[in-house]
Parts: sequence; structure tokens; C-alpha cells
Amino acid sequence: MRRKYIFLILIAAIFFCSCNNEVLYRIGVSQCSSDDWREKMNDEIYREIMFHPNVEVEIRSADDSNAKQIADIEYFRDNGFDIIICAPNEADAITPIIKEVYESGIPVIIFDRNIHGDSYTAYQGADNFGIGESAALYANHLLNKEGKVIEIYGLAGSTPAIDRHRGFVRALDKMPDIKLAASAYGNWNYEDAYKVADSLLTLLPDVDLIYAHNDRMAIAAADVARSKALDPYIIGIDAAPEIGIKAVVEHTIDATFLYPTEGYSLIRTALAILQNQPYERFLQIPASSAVDESNADILLLQDQSLKEETAKIKLLKSQVDDYWSKHSAQKALIYATITILILLSSFLFVLLKAYWQRKKHQQDLTEATASKLAFFTNVSHDLRTPLTLIAEPVEQLVAADNLSDKQRSLMKIADKNVRILRRLINQILDFRKYESGKLLLNLSEIDIVAAMREWAESFTTVASKRDIKLLLNLPDKSQNIAIDAEKIERVFFNLMSNAFKHTPDNGKIVLNFEAGTEQVKFSIADTGEGISAEDQSYIFEQFYQVEKMHPKGSGIGLTLSKAFVELHQGQISVVSALGKGSEFTVVLPLRHVSEESAAPVQNLISNADVEAELSKIESGNISIDEEKPLILVVDDNEDIRKMLLLLLSDEYNLIQASDGQEGVKLAMKYTPDLIICDVMMPIMDGLDCCDKIKAELSTSHIPVLMLTACSLDEQRVQAYDSGADGYLSKPFTAQLLKSRCYSLINNRKRIKELWQSPLKGFADESAKSGKDPKGLIANDIDSEFYNKFLSIVKEEMSDMNMNVDSLASRMNLGRSQFYRKIKALTNYSPVELLRKLRLESAREMLRTTEKSISEIAYEVGFSTPAYFTKCYREAYGQTPSELREKL
Ligand code: FRU
Repeated sequence: MRRKYIFLILIAAIFFCSCNNEVLYRIGVSQCSSDDWREKMNDEIYREIMFHPNVEVEIRSADDSNAKQIADIEYFRDNGFDIIICAPNEADAITPIIKEVYESGIPVIIFDRNIHGDSYTAYQGADNFGIGESAALYANHLLNKEGKVIEIYGLAGSTPAIDRHRGFVRALDKMPDIKLAASAYGNWNYEDAYKVADSLLTLLPDVDLIYAHNDRMAIAAADVARSKALDPYIIGIDAAPEIGIKAVVEHTIDATFLYPTEGYSLIRTALAILQNQPYERFLQIPASSAVDESNADILLLQDQSLKEETAKIKLLKSQVDDYWSKHSAQKALIYATITILILLSSFLFVLLKAYWQRKKHQQDLTEATASKLAFFTNVSHDLRTPLTLIAEPVEQLVAADNLSDKQRSLMKIADKNVRILRRLINQILDFRKYESGKLLLNLSEIDIVAAMREWAESFTTVASKRDIKLLLNLPDKSQNIAIDAEKIERVFFNLMSNAFKHTPDNGKIVLNFEAGTEQVKFSIADTGEGISAEDQSYIFEQFYQVEKMHPKGSGIGLTLSKAFVELHQGQISVVSALGKGSEFTVVLPLRHVSEESAAPVQNLISNADVEAELSKIESGNISIDEEKPLILVVDDNEDIRKMLLLLLSDEYNLIQASDGQEGVKLAMKYTPDLIICDVMMPIMDGLDCCDKIKAELSTSHIPVLMLTACSLDEQRVQAYDSGADGYLSKPFTAQLLKSRCYSLINNRKRIKELWQSPLKGFADESAKSGKDPKGLIANDIDSEFYNKFLSIVKEEMSDMNMNVDSLASRMNLGRSQFYRKIKALTNYSPVELLRKLRLESAREMLRTTEKSISEIAYEVGFSTPAYFTKCYREAYGQTPSELREKL
């Protein structure tokens, strides 16, 4: 992580550096003087520097003072300048400091004037000796080889002055008629030159030519001469445009010699030295020819245009600088933005990574929990069938009266543990159902106070055995509430068992109950070891086990309790302190369901009308009792078939099939009152079997109860999609099985009764719509069948020959199939039903038409009015004429 941050900081640093114009070199320039010639040179230096944005230059002028120049050089030395360029004022005075600086390792370039010796990195200057010679030659030309000359000398210790003098004198040696009459120091400046010129011209008024070592001194001499009305030739040196050339153009002086400034070349040499590139150590610029009236004005013009161009360049440069600084600011901004973005994205990345890792961790946990649950679910399913096979015999054995005490207590242990196993399995399967949002509430109105008293009863024995004080703070008056009693009972047991598990002997457990107008609240408080604050927030999570909370538990009890409570839209919470105990509180909304929906189904109707055909059934060992309904068991597990036989044979006739195909065959053959069908079977599974039964007209009305080890809701949905009427998952109790069989057969009978009621409205409503008049028939096939039957009867009503055979053939069924179908649907035989429909139609006509009784009798298909009257009286307890009389 730390490495990552260092890397990021480096990137940021690189960005910042790259957008910074850092100064690489600092150049110090020490000028000995400040004048027009040096101004020109300084301009050149600054212009050159423009092309090197990373180079900084500082120019200092000594104003002709040796001491000041020494101080300037020391300043450059002491302030970390990388190179010093110097025009020494006087060689004697400046040589030591230059030597010292040079020897200290700072490169030095000497220009224009020189020092003594060669303690410098490079020298650059004009050929002053040559200039002196040229001046002498030019004088010779002006004087026409004869005349008197005076010299105004620069500065005694300045090397250019020395060389200019020597060159001039050397050339004069070859001009015998030209005499150097006098030479005096003008110290390079106008004022001193003026003084010496004045003295000299006073002494030598007949002088023919004045040679000055620079233009300033030449102009001073010219001014003196003019003041004395003298007119000697005057020549100077420098040819700086604003002074020397201008003076020539204005005829103040006669000529001047170019003394090159070469400021550009100085900077280039300096950079070459600093960058270790080749350079010329001693550069001498040769002397040039004179500037006189023949070329001065052109040179001045050239200089003028050069100045204009330079001004333009400067303007451009300032604009470029301006743009550059803006650009640099923008660049810096962009880099800063990029850097911030990089840092932000890295930060975001780190954040996201942490989030992903956390999420993945949670996902892994969820997946692990899901696979754990799936594993438990599968195992639970596998356990269900054998558990059912164990549970039933064990239950019956416990109740057997021929056991010894020892055997009975052993059986009780077995029974108890089977129950625990069953509870655990149910918990896991219920939890799976809850997770997929398919755990349903089966609300019924109960007195919760009474229920709690009863539930708590189971704990009194253990309480007294362990000297635990069990306080039941339950109100005296009852409190009705609509809850899923079985689920709340399980919540209660779970909380109570936990309390007992964690409360030491001699402890105390208190059940409190409070009923408000909108909710009821009960809590179970113990004096156990308590739960830590951290664990409290997890105890309702899946499989979470506080070490001591469920030392042997599945870790699902509290989770499921919470699920059950939340299914009721209630809340469950815990308050606990380590060492003091815990209190679990459950709040349930106070709701009621109507008495009707809560009332249990009662008054079962026995079926005494087993068809005559059933008596012909031969079903192996199973004897047929015509008084009992017939159940077809379709299951490949022989044990299950045997067990069902044992459980149901007292109340039902049973026939069996070991796969779906055989089941369909038997169903069509015997038209049983109920089919109990397993889902997973060879050859044809239960779902297909159920499909076939429900699609077949002769069997579509038979209720099918799916009986299987799979209780997952998806499979339940599949089964219902196949038309199943009920679903019973293993393990089941004998009681539950019997009650489901009973209610399915009973419901079918109730439907039959309901089907009879359309007969009453047949003549009017069905006559109009030709359809199942009250929409009571839920099954499409049966509904279609019945509607078709009604419309045929209606059409053929007046046909006294209409009988069961003709109706069966028009309904595309065999006689006995037709008989069983009508019987199963309506509880009437076809003959009875046909007669009832004829009579119902007649009754309606008697009431609503003026037709005679005989007419009506024939119209509804009776052979004689007398027989019609007889039948009518049997059905309605009065004759048709009696009815008419009462109308
Ligand atoms: C300028 C100057 C020039 C002369 C040069 C000699 O300071 O006086 O006029 O040519 O110095 O170093």
C-alpha cells in the first residue's frame, strides 16, 4: 500500500516538474562602464537570452570604478552564479579578483578589455592594435601623408587603449611626414577628453588631425576645436550608431572605426562552456575599415531598420512571453487537474476495491450460507422419508400396552428424539421457504393467553426439577388474536428452551404479557449468562451461534423465530447484559379474522354411494368394503404403500400402483374417490400422472393428493400446475394424512352438493345461458362436460326416449364411464339427474306460463301426464295442480 502511494507521489512530482520552467543557469555580466556602446552590447545580450528560457542573466555596471567592479564580481561569485562575463575596467586592478574567481572554479569570460595573464576560461575582443593601425592609415589618407597629429588616449590601464595607441604609433612609423605631436588621457569620457583637448588645442592650434580612442572623446575634441574656430580632421573609434555614426553623418567628426560589441556571441560562448560544448578560448574579431561620410548614412539607416525590427521582435517576444505564461498557467492547471484526477481516481479505486472486497466477502458468506442451507435442505429431504417410516411405528409402539416399563422408556426416548429430528428438519425446510418468500401464514383466531399458559405448561416439570422459578405473568382475561398458532408456538418454544438452556439451576425465568389496542407483546426474561453487545446484533442471523448460546443447536432457531414473527408483521428483539441475563421480546399486531374463515371444517358426510361396479374390483389382498371410499395409492416405495395401507385401511378401500402409468390405468378403471400420488417415480412421475388424470374426462374430477419428500415450494407449484388438489410433504403424521384424505374426499362431496343446486335454476338460468349457471365448477374439463350435458338435455327435453345410453354416446363416453362421471360430479345417477332436470323445467313452466299440465308434461319428455304428476309429487311433495292453485 505504501509503495503505491510513493508511486503516486512520484507521478505527481514528475507532472509538477515538467510544467515548471526551472532556471538551469545564471550568468553574471560585469560591465566596467555604462555608455551607448555598452547599452548596445547589453541589448544584444538580453536578446540572445530570449532564446534560452532556462537561462537567467544579470548585468551590473561598475561606472568606471575598479572598486565597484571588484564588488560586482564578488557578488556574482557569492551568489552562486554559474559563469561570470567581465569587461575589466583596468587590468592592474581587476586581474587579481578575476584570477581568484577563475581559480575557485567559476568559469570566466573576459571581453573587450583584458586582464594580465590568462586566468580566464575564454577571451573575446576586437583587434585593437589593428584598429590603431587602420586609424593611422586613414589619417595618412586624410592628411595626404603630411601633417601634425594629436592623440586622445583612453584610460591608462585599459588594454584597448594601450593596443590602439601601439597600433597607431606602429603605423605612423612608416609615415615620416606625419608627426604625433602630443598624446593625453581622456579616460574614455567626454568631460576629461574635452579638458585635455582644450589644453592641447590651445598649445597646438595648428594641429591637422585629432585621433581619439573612442567617439565620445572625438566629439569632445570636435566641440573644443569648433569653439576655437579650428578645423582639424577628427577621427574616433566605436561607430556606435547613436553617437559615432551620427557624428559622422552630421560632420562633427570625419570618421570612426567599428568596435564590435558581439553581445550574442558572448552568451553563446558562455552556454557552450556551461554545457561542456566546444568553444573558442581566444576569439579576436578583426578590425574593419572606416565609417566616414561615404557610408555613414547607410549604416545609420541600416541601424534604424535593425532597431525597428528589434522592436518588433521584442513585441513578439513579449506577446510570446505573455502567451507562454498563460499557456504555462494553463499547463500547470491541466497538470494539476490531471494529478488531482489521478489521485482522486486512485483514491476512488482504493475505495472501490475495498468495497468490492467487502461485497465479495459478503457474497462469499451468503453463498456459503446458501450452499450450507441447500445442503441441509437436501439432506433434510433425504431424511424425511426414512424418518416418516421410523416416526409412525415408534409413535404406535409408544402407545402399545404390552411393553415393559424399560421398553416403554426406551421407546419414549426414541419417540422424543424422532420428534427433535423432525423439528430440526422442519426448521430447515421452513427456513428455506421463508428465504424464497413462500412461507405462508395460516391465520386463525385463538386465545393467545390460554395458548401461552398451555405452552408454558410443558416447561413446569423441568423448572421444578432444576429449581428454576418460572413466573407466568399472564392476565386472567382472554385475548383473542389472529395468528398462525403453530408458528408462534414454535417461537415461544424456541425462546423458552433457550432461556432454560442458559439459566443456571435456582435461576428465574419470567414470562410477561401485555395487550394493547393495536398489538400484543410478550417477553421471556432469564437470569442466564447474558449475551455480549456484539453478539446481540448477530444472534438473529442465519447459522449464527454464540458459543454458549446454542452449544448443540443448529443456529437456526432464533433466525426462524424472527422469520415467523416478521411474517406476522411483528418484531422480535433482545436486551441482554453479560452476567445478568437476557430478555427476548416479541410484538405482534393485534388482528382478527372472521369467524367463518377461522372455523374448522366439520360435519363430514360419509359416502355410501360407492358404485355398483366397485363391487367387482379385485384388488389382491385388499378387501373392498362398499361403505368406504376408494383411495388409489401411487408410490414406488413399497414401505410407504404398506404404511398407508396400515394407516388408512380402517376407513378406506385402497388400491395401489407402483408408478404413474399404472396409476393412470387404475384411476381410469376404478374412478377412485381420491388418488394419493408420490412425485418422484420411475416410468411416469407423479406430475405427469396427475396431468393425465386431470386431462381425462372420466377421471378429471378425482382429487389428487401429492405425497412426497420434496416440500420445496417450486415443486409444490409444479404439482398444483399439474392440477393436484393437495400436497403433503414427508414426514407427515398419520393424523395429518387422514385429515387431508378426509377433507379432500369431503370437499368433493360438498362440491357435488353444490352441483345439485344448479338443477334448481336449470330451467331458467341455464336455459338462457346454456351454461353451468352458478359457475361452481372449478375444473375446466368438468365444467365443459357439464355445460355440454345441460345443453343436450335442454335440446332433447321433449324427447321421452332420451336415456342414459343416448346421452353417454352424445357425450362421447362409455355407459359406465358416463355413469361414474355424472355420479362423481353430481352425486346423482344419470337417470336421476335427467328426471330432476325434466321436473325442474316443468316446475318453472308451471310457474311462469299458461300452458296446461299435460302440455308441460309432454314438453319436458314424460310419456304420460299421470306419470309426470306422480314423479312431481315425489320430488316436490305436491302435485302440479296444487302448485298452480297456490299461485
Ligand atoms: C566604452 C568604451 C568604448 C571603447 C571601449 C574600450 O566603455 O569606452 O568607447 O571602445 O570602452 O574598452
